[in-house]
Amino acid sequence: MSVPAMIAHLLLEKLTRQMQPRVPEADLIMQEQGQVLAFMEGGRDEGILAYVYLFHAVMALPVIRPGDMVVDLACGPANQLVQMARLNPEARFIGVDASPSMVALALDTVAASGLGNVALQNGDITQLNAFANQSVDCVTCTMSLHHLPDTQALAATMREIRRILKPGGGVYLADFGRLKRAASQHYFAHDRQELQSEQFTADFLASMRAAFSPAEFDVALGEIDASIQRYETGLAPFILICRSTARRDVDSTLAAQVKAAYADLSRGQRRDFDNFVRWFKMGGLDLPCAVR
Ligand SMILES: C[S@@+](CC[C@H](N)C(=O)[O-])C[C@H]1O[C@@H](n2cnc3c(N)ncnc32)[C@H](O)[C@@H]1O
Repeated sequence: MSVPAMIAHLLLEKLTRQMQPRVPEADLIMQEQGQVLAFMEGGRDEGILAYVYLFHAVMALPVIRPGDMVVDLACGPANQLVQMARLNPEARFIGVDASPSMVALALDTVAASGLGNVALQNGDITQLNAFANQSVDCVTCTMSLHHLPDTQALAATMREIRRILKPGGGVYLADFGRLKRAASQHYFAHDRQELQSEQFTADFLASMRAAFSPAEFDVALGEIDASIQRYETGLAPFILICRSTARRDVDSTLAAQVKAAYADLSRGQRRDFDNFVRWFKMGGLDLPCAVR
């Protein structure tokens, strides 16, 4: 990452008024084999997304309690889900995805992890019929809401979250925010292109173009509960995080697990993780515990 180039793009985002129109994903449900495998590849331990998965798993810790039933919406190949389940061994997780190919990969990921606290379901996150009203303690969803076709589907998903959550339940949602300039979208999608497949880069750009704007998120969040706070990366909403108020403290045992997971990252991944932390700190969100 060239820091001056990145800062230049972020500043230009600040100065730009007109926002790029949203371009919904061509493949709302990720089924095409090349696309599915490119995404799975990026999420492996040595993959480009590994540090992002640890980052979200750590940021989500305050809203997940031991004993919780957590539903991870649009879990994809379950790399993120497994990372969260590993840090929360006393919570039970159900991953839901509408793509049978993704659910098949997710089953492999979960089996390879050896974890016993994760189940998977095929399902549509805009209609969570498999879950009764107020039956779930926590809902998570990472990097998936931009796959929804429009703001009506986004609002429907938020209403489903409200319906299935128990009172006082936890919420952690993370996704891209729509940037204003096509050049910024292109920059971020291509920034690490040497480390990712062409398919991954193309999908990354498509995701940035399909992202909802912060204002669209705010309207949709109104369907859940006012106690959810929305954060974004400093200077521009490259990534948005919507998190409910904390339901637990991160104690010393959990903090030690986080440190061990961070230490397992490669040097480059730790650098990317640290930069991500700094970027979110600029936006007012800090880690719930130290990583070293
Ligand atoms: C980019 S992947 C993200 C997966 C995972 N959450 C992660 O962070 O790695 C987006 C996923 O959303 C799923 N998806 C898209 N629309 C969906 C819907 N309406 N219901 C359920 N899953 C959906 C896709 O099939 C795909 O697996």
